Amino acid sequence: MTQSACAPRLDGKVAVVTGAGRGIGFEIARLLAGQGARLVVNDLGGGSGGGGGNASVAQQAVDQLRAAGGEAVAETSSVDGFKGAERVIQAALDHFGRIDIVVNNAGIARPGGIQDMTEDDLDIILAVNLKGYAGLIRHAAPHFIGQAGGTIVNMSSPSGFGHYGNTAYAAAKEGVIGLTRSVARDLGPHGVRCNALRPMAGGSQMATPKMVESLMASARLGIPPLWNRWPSPQGFPAGPEHVAAVAVWLCTDAAAAANGREFFVAGQEVGILPEPEVHRVTFDAAGWTLDSLDRPEVGAYLLGGVRNAFRGPA
Ligand SMILES: NC(=O)c1ccc[n+]([C@@H]2O[C@H](COP(=O)([O-])OP(=O)(O)OC[C@H]3O[C@@H](n4cnc5c(N)ncnc54)[C@H](O)[C@@H]3O)[C@@H](O)[C@H]2O)c1
Repeated sequence: MTQSACAPRLDGKVAVVTGAGRGIGFEIARLLAGQGARLVVNDLGGGSGGGGGNASVAQQAVDQLRAAGGEAVAETSSVDGFKGAERVIQAALDHFGRIDIVVNNAGIARPGGIQDMTEDDLDIILAVNLKGYAGLIRHAAPHFIGQAGGTIVNMSSPSGFGHYGNTAYAAAKEGVIGLTRSVARDLGPHGVRCNALRPMAGGSQMATPKMVESLMASARLGIPPLWNRWPSPQGFPAGPEHVAAVAVWLCTDAAAAANGREFFVAGQEVGILPEPEVHRVTFDAAGWTLDSLDRPEVGAYLLGGVRNAFRGPA
């Protein structure tokens, strides 16, 4: 099952991939297996907006991996909180006796503006896209610390930049970035690495008409549009296998320098994003008042070149 001329890069490692029954998660599981890793394939088999469930989704993925010579087991918990997360990590320990790699990939979306959001929408989107991610890391952490090593890849999204009409999902996916940075600092001293990916790939069950409209409107509104990079200028299709290559590479020693960093990948393009930095800064020993902020060398300086681009119709 190896997909390169090199020796398998992850021989003997044990990986869990959530949402690995289809899409990007399945391609990550396939490539991990091809590199010698043993797999827990977690997937609830639910719908793109959460809920539902179909155990055959994870099992069919496992069947494919095994048919190609891989070692994999299916796990069908919902990774929407700590209970499901603990069961997924426990499955790795029960079946393979260890855990080396966690890929938090399960995702759902309920596109819609903040004015239409229900509490249930927000709860389930945060639960699957953020709380479950923290839960898997939390339950893997004692094992990673005990063995002084482990790698984590968290699936974020360009939507976290603030896509139009997808508020809950954007909030969850940007939360993943903060989670990633902080986990890197918590577990880095123990030899653990944690990075995030903002992918773009076709073939997603989340690519509903409402999701596509959110992306199109975001581009029209001029939001930092990784979306505009897909398809790439060369017209090369952006598939889940391209995302998988970067996700798995981040789990290998070749990426040992990367910890707490975020990457994007869309077809032919892969990139690393900068750490957040202060764009302009000024100082007043007396502290700030409304009047001092009104001074041109302060307020106008801070807002120089900034414009509210979001006032027109989307
Ligand atoms: N495809 C893209 O262009 C794109 C862009 C940005 C971010 N992402 C992110 O990448 C990840 C994978 O996306 P995809 O396009 O392959 O999506 P997908 O919908 O094709 O696959 C996601 C999988 O997660 C599973 N899942 C959903 N809720 C679950 C739960 N509670 N417990 C366990 N499994 C659950 C689903 O059953 C599904 O098989 C997601 O986190 C998504 O938010 C994808």
